[in-house]
Amino acid sequence: MTREANLCKQCPVCNGVACRGQIPGVGGIGQGTAFINNVQALKKYGLLMDVVNNIQTVDASTTLFGKTYSFPLLIAPIAGIKNNYGTDIPDYVYNSELAKACDEEGISCFVGDGIDMENFFHLPARAIHEQGGQGFVTIKPWVMDKVVERINLVKEFDVLGIAMDVDAAGLPLLRNSVTPVENKDENALRKIKELCGDKPFIVKGIMTPEAALIALRAGANGIVVSNHGGRVLDDACATMDVLEEIVEAVQGKMTIFVDGGFRTGTDIFKAIALGADGVLVGRPIALACATEGIEGAKKAINKLKTEFNHAMRMTGCATVKDITKRKIKKQTM
Ligand SMILES: Cc1cc2nc3c(=O)[nH]c(=O)nc-3n(C[C@H](O)[C@H](O)[C@H](O)COP(=O)(O)O)c2cc1C
Repeated sequence: MTREANLCKQCPVCNGVACRGQIPGVGGIGQGTAFINNVQALKKYGLLMDVVNNIQTVDASTTLFGKTYSFPLLIAPIAGIKNNYGTDIPDYVYNSELAKACDEEGISCFVGDGIDMENFFHLPARAIHEQGGQGFVTIKPWVMDKVVERINLVKEFDVLGIAMDVDAAGLPLLRNSVTPVENKDENALRKIKELCGDKPFIVKGIMTPEAALIALRAGANGIVVSNHGGRVLDDACATMDVLEEIVEAVQGKMTIFVDGGFRTGTDIFKAIALGADGVLVGRPIALACATEGIEGAKKAINKLKTEFNHAMRMTGCATVKDITKRKIKKQTM
């Protein structure tokens, strides 16, 4: 099966160059620099090969929010698959197929949100529920009554947790929409955490240690270090350039995910080495799923898994806990 996705240039490496400024589409905002920064920052690190040991097998599994993952990968929320990729499938179908692929590969995914609550939020959340509940829902930082409405909609759904992409307050299309978004401060985040009840709450779109500590004080269970794949602020710093100081500030008190520009298993390894608990990959998996459905998504996830396992073996890491800062080195470019 191959479906069209003609708004994505489908480059050999998904690096933000050919699609600069294309929103709707899959590009970064403005000159596309924040998206490109994400990809390039990862290349500043190299892996330190070390095969002088007696490691025979590696175990890439890890436990996040009570779920055991085959390796530390989650798929990032991508809403509006039709408008952004040019495919013919609705978000419900995309997310159903993605959730199934993730489940079969022993990982999980996030689903997104949009102005059209039914098609971009409720049905994608239902897809997670129907596929066994192995995924997170993500709510945009709408004005509070709209947040409450969405949390109520998913109360009865089986999901791993509820996230909010606070950085979507910067999406130009949403700020002046019929359902406006707004910045969320510590009190607002605390209120949202309360509304989540016993479901974990994850704040997505954190780029400074200060913001991470505010999320922590508000009771968040996790954060995603993210600049929304470079879609909300041109020239935003790369996520890999801020990850280490955020990890240091949080001191293991909540789960830290990171996303933006991760394209290989060795890229994922680098973030784990800097202290992230898991990595979200967005565009390449979304494209694979949009064009080739469950099998395409599984193949793309499997490629990352094979590369990650190989990186562990070649750096002398028998378990994910062995992946530390000592396994990578910042290179002079
Ligand atoms: C077309 C598109 C739609 C997106 N929709 C959402 C969304 O609904 N919610 C959200 O939190 N992030 C959304 N994002 C951001 C991604 O979840 C993620 O942060 C980013 O794409 C990760 O970087 P990568 O695509 O370079 O791997 C979207 C990104 C793209 C490209």
